[in-house]
Amino acid sequence: MWSQLLFGSFPMIYISCEGSTVAYCWIRFLIPNANSSALSLFTESQITGSLRGITRSSAGSSGLENIRITSISLSPADPRTVKEPTDKSCAFSYYADPSGKKIILSSPGFPSGYPTNARCQYLLRAERGSVISLAFTTFNIRDNCQDDFLTVFNSLSSDRGNIITEQCGNRPPTNPLAVFSSGNVALIAFITSSISYPGFQVVFSQVPKLTGCDQTLTSDLGNFTSPYYPSFYPPNIDCKWTIQVPSHLRIRVQFYMFRLKEPGMNHDTCNKDYVEIASVKYCGERSFLGLISSGPTLEVKFHSDASFTDKGFLAEYSAYDPQNPCPGQFACSNGLCISVSLTCDGWNDCGDLSDERNCVCSSDQFHCDNGLCKPRLWLCDHSNDCGDNSDEKQCGCNSEQWKCNNEVCIPRIKKCDGQPDCADFSDEADCANVTVGVCTDFTYQCKNGACTSQVNPECDQKRDCEDGSDEESCNCGVRPYKHNRIVGGTDADVGEWPWQVSLHFGRQGHTCGASIISKHWLVSAAHCFQRTREANYADARNWNTYSGLHGQRDMQNVQVRGVKSITTHPLYNHNTFDYDIALLELKEPLVFSNIIHPICLPARTHIFPSGMSCWVTGWGLLGENGQLARMLQKAEVKIINDTVCNSVTRGQVTPRMLCSGYLTGGVDACQGDSGGPLACSQNGGPWFLCGIVSWGEGCARKNNPGIYSRMTELREWVKIQTGL
Ligand code: ARG
Repeated sequence: MWSQLLFGSFPMIYISCEGSTVAYCWIRFLIPNANSSALSLFTESQITGSLRGITRSSAGSSGLENIRITSISLSPADPRTVKEPTDKSCAFSYYADPSGKKIILSSPGFPSGYPTNARCQYLLRAERGSVISLAFTTFNIRDNCQDDFLTVFNSLSSDRGNIITEQCGNRPPTNPLAVFSSGNVALIAFITSSISYPGFQVVFSQVPKLTGCDQTLTSDLGNFTSPYYPSFYPPNIDCKWTIQVPSHLRIRVQFYMFRLKEPGMNHDTCNKDYVEIASVKYCGERSFLGLISSGPTLEVKFHSDASFTDKGFLAEYSAYDPQNPCPGQFACSNGLCISVSLTCDGWNDCGDLSDERNCVCSSDQFHCDNGLCKPRLWLCDHSNDCGDNSDEKQCGCNSEQWKCNNEVCIPRIKKCDGQPDCADFSDEADCANVTVGVCTDFTYQCKNGACTSQVNPECDQKRDCEDGSDEESCNCGVRPYKHNRIVGGTDADVGEWPWQVSLHFGRQGHTCGASIISKHWLVSAAHCFQRTREANYADARNWNTYSGLHGQRDMQNVQVRGVKSITTHPLYNHNTFDYDIALLELKEPLVFSNIIHPICLPARTHIFPSGMSCWVTGWGLLGENGQLARMLQKAEVKIINDTVCNSVTRGQVTPRMLCSGYLTGGVDACQGDSGGPLACSQNGGPWFLCGIVSWGEGCARKNNPGIYSRMTELREWVKIQTGL
């Protein structure tokens, strides 16, 4: 209906309502001469009061006599998504098929590209007693949620209190978006700006509304999940799981996936969506959540409020004997069982540090101020291993001094005084008054020859060189697909490491890794291409490169290229592995895609500080005596300080190498990962190739971190060989 009525004394209201069980009304206020004093009239109580009057007075004349108003609620609409009901451009309306048949909807122009500066709305309705299911089969929108985004509302109006989800970017097929409404209506608002992307395609259908999600679980072992998992849970739902085990047993619950995130949520009080166990609320995103019960029953509650939903959770529970919770193993406070040898080793194996508490430090361990024991080797390695930084305090320099990157102390006032005082010039790097002009071994050189003392100026979206050359050639180091952090497990996601290449030798299959640095060039390790008595690894004709590969047997969207030439570093030393780098020129260029994309090469002066977290990836052995991985694996490793690196390798590390991993062992690259990337990204910036997997003593052994070729030292050679 449309009516034109008076509001107060002068402004007019145009009101239009629709909806069968709930009415959604559009009201337009006309305020003459932008009379700002009239704005004070527009309070919630004024508006609701007038609306009640209007519906009462117009009921008789407009056939609305059967309408009963039980409540009126008002909330501001998102100005970016509001659309006047009279605006019929890019406006669609659909009824779900009552038989449950699926209807496919897509953005205008899909998949060739959506219109720019569009405001599209899809009003979706289903039968009473059903809810709406929206399963996106393609979601590829520009990755800028300010200007380009898709919002799903749990109502027919675009009111911010009813948002189910708001998304942008390009989602990989492994992380599809699927949401449910809580009632029989929904609205998709799709807003675009000046750049066109393929858009979205979504399967729209109705499903019967969940009548309840409470469950009693009585077996000794089982799983439970948030409703519709792994689709997003619906808004406005409460569930309760009651776990009951025999009275002499206790319950252990572990959440393998836990994502209850929403804007405006206070993660301390969990004021919106939450899981509640023993009166404690949990929300947000957690990589691990484990709990134990104090008796034979445990209640797990789940609540979702009116707005913003998420993937939810997947939990596993099991009964255990409290007299012997972890037969032959150590029992963590959170219910996990770990090997006894992992306790008091400085490593947080339980996840709640309970395996590192109440330890007596051994002679090769350092006693942190907070009571933890950490290997002495970790002292002064620039990484806060204790958690309270006590392992990095007293490290040689006093409070009036500043420590150079080569560990020498200089008077603090000499830092950033324009004069190099450290032998490695590190005191003049990273200074607030960035100097342009003076070139040293530690300054970045722009194309025009000038230098900047800005640390890591390449591709940081800031123009540091006058000629802008630090921001040139920056179409690298980004992942076209948007990735959620994958919790647990080390299988990579599709497209997560789009520069990773698998090198197949003859009929032997996967032999080494490599990284894409341009359409024509890959970098790898020289030791992969040494001729042996059995086979000629040096002959380019024996190699094939697989880009865009995920599972070794899945060739979908993979680009296979032969090798035109292999150039190994002329100073490569097969005894020491010094200069372990090779360049492969491809016979045919690659075509970049969602899953094939180059990594950035760091400048010679790029700094990867020790303690920094980086990622190594590959299809190498899953353990020292393990098998090659089928799925691409990823592992997070830390850059290790050169002094520590040299001491643990007894001086085998040359300036062309760096250590990364953990002195505690457990995480490392292995045979078959060689040639692959050690990729680092700082503050969400692009990914840089920090190292190339080169060698190590065994794999993941204690005090034997992985050794990588140091890209910064080999950068000039790459430039000479490839022009890149
Ligand atoms: N040289 C090995 C290869 O050919 C890679 C060794 C890496 N080892 C390590 N522990 N990080 O695949």
